[in-house]
Amino acid sequence: MSLLAVRDLKKNFGALKALNNVSFDLEEGEIVGIIGPNGAGKTTLFNVIVGIYRPDGGDVVFKGKSVRNLPPHRICRTGITKTSQVVHPFLTLTVKENVLIALMFGRNLTKKASESKAEEIMEFLNIADVKDMRSTQVSLAKRRRLELARALGTGADLILMDENLAGLNPRELEEGMEIIRELKKRGKTLIIVEHIMQAIMGVCERLIVLSYGEKIGEGLPVEVCSDDRVIQAYLGEKICSV
Ligand SMILES: Nc1ncnc2c1ncn2[C@@H]1O[C@H](COP(=O)(O)OP(=O)(O)O)[C@@H](O)[C@H]1O
Ligand SMILES: [Mg+2]
Repeated sequence: MSLLAVRDLKKNFGALKALNNVSFDLEEGEIVGIIGPNGAGKTTLFNVIVGIYRPDGGDVVFKGKSVRNLPPHRICRTGITKTSQVVHPFLTLTVKENVLIALMFGRNLTKKASESKAEEIMEFLNIADVKDMRSTQVSLAKRRRLELARALGTGADLILMDENLAGLNPRELEEGMEIIRELKKRGKTLIIVEHIMQAIMGVCERLIVLSYGEKIGEGLPVEVCSDDRVIQAYLGEKICSV
């Protein structure tokens, strides 16, 4: 049984078909990348999976059960969460308080029980040095890590990462890729939306390509990147060959 099965998912915004019959499966422990041009429906797909948007058709089955009619907080409790393309920390709280909230409300832990877990997560993501700073005061790279820390705080098994590596310098990007590899070693399953092909090719085991709300490609990264339809819709030029 797949960890996640997305079946014929549809989402319309008025006349716009943001998702048009999108289907795919995800196995436990996989790192799958989703690529496609701006406006392809990548963020919408994540928003439907985590319950922010209700689908207009199709189903999202997680661990064998449909989550399509559950509200976001219940979907989070089943073990799915996402990091946002536009970071959304609680602005007046410190980095550590933001992580604590994810632990206390995502996992229902007491504040005391959450303390050591928050420290552990912040150490792992290399943001412990800014833990007492307000989330608005830290660098973009650390705010992106905080987004991931909050996701990990919920204890989710499946993390959807929406352009979490965008805007980073080469060293920060390499660190971000290393964290993704380490998350896999720790048993997490990841879907990554990203435009940086170096990162996609460096960490993803499989790619799914969206264009105008439709899945136009799926397979091994090298196969997908040499597919003419994918090159035409997104890549613009051949970046690898099989
Ligand atoms: N809340 C919304 N209301 C209306 N249109 C939306 C909304 N969210 C996204 N869209 C539209 O849906 C399409 C897909 O958007 P999005 O999922 O953000 O694409 P991507 O993340 O691949 O760039 C775009 O045409 C976008 O303008
Ligand atoms: Mg997007």
